[in-house]
Order: sequence, then C-alpha cells, then structure tokens
Amino acid sequence: MDDRELLQEAIEAMGDAYSPYSGHPVGAALLARSGKIYRGVNVENAVNGLSICAEQVAVAKAVSEGERKFIKIAVACEGPGYCRPCGACRQVLFEFAPEIEVITGNVQGEFEVQSLTELLPLPFAKPGLKRSARG
Ligand code: THU
Repeated sequence: MDDRELLQEAIEAMGDAYSPYSGHPVGAALLARSGKIYRGVNVENAVNGLSICAEQVAVAKAVSEGERKFIKIAVACEGPGYCRPCGACRQVLFEFAPEIEVITGNVQGEFEVQSLTELLPLPFAKPGLKRSARG
C-alpha cells in the first residue's frame, strides 16, 4: 500500500463525514501492521466540543478491533492546501505509533508526508509508563 493509495482510501472515506456545522469533511485511512485499513471521518455534534476528528475515529475503530501497531495514516480534505492533524490527534497517534508516517492530502490528489516525530517533536509521555502486551 503506497502513500497515494492510502490517500485515495482517505478521500473515499470523506464521503461518509458528518460535518454539517463546519462544512469541512475530513477522511482518514489508518494502515495497521496487520495490513488492514481502518477508515475514519469527522463526526460533528450540535454541542460544541463533542465533535470527533477523523483520525481519532480511525484509531478508536482499529484499537477496538485489537490492533495496536500502525504504519501510516492518510488524512484528506477538500483543499486547497492540506489538513494536517490537529494537536490532539497528534497526541492520540503518539499513544500507539510514535513514529507513524502521516500523509496529508486533498481531493486533488496533492499530498505531503511527514513523520509524527516531525509533527509532534515534544509529546506528552507519562513518566515511567510500562505497557503490557495487551496494555
Ligand atoms: N478535523 C478533523 O477531523 N481532523 C483534524 O485533524 C482537524 C480537524 C475536523 C474537526 C471538525 O469537524 C472540522 O474538521 C473542522 O472544523
């Protein structure tokens, strides 16, 4: 699965976004080490603050199905330009995949690639936290 193919998955996911308040549909496609792809979309709510970002939906779907290791994630929006993951999403990705590759693109097929290490150079990490295999 190359970066362009994963971006295409994210673009397709955008069609299911629920974004009546912002008018800004976002799609995500998260590639797990198992090879499976988990899609996510932003799911907004009339109550400010209850909206969920596409990346977080994708991570929650994957983790709830037993996945813990991730290789890369693509995030798509309409453009022009790119929708880079917000700070909260970067921290959520860091929890499971500190070195994940992040592809940010748009429906025109333009994209850029960064590592999460670049996007979140100084994450919060709980001192002394040890994760068990199924932590
Ligand atoms: N959004 C995402 O889904 N991912 C991000 O990383 C940033 C923003 C969503 C949240 C909200 O539904 C809309 O984009 C912007 O208002």
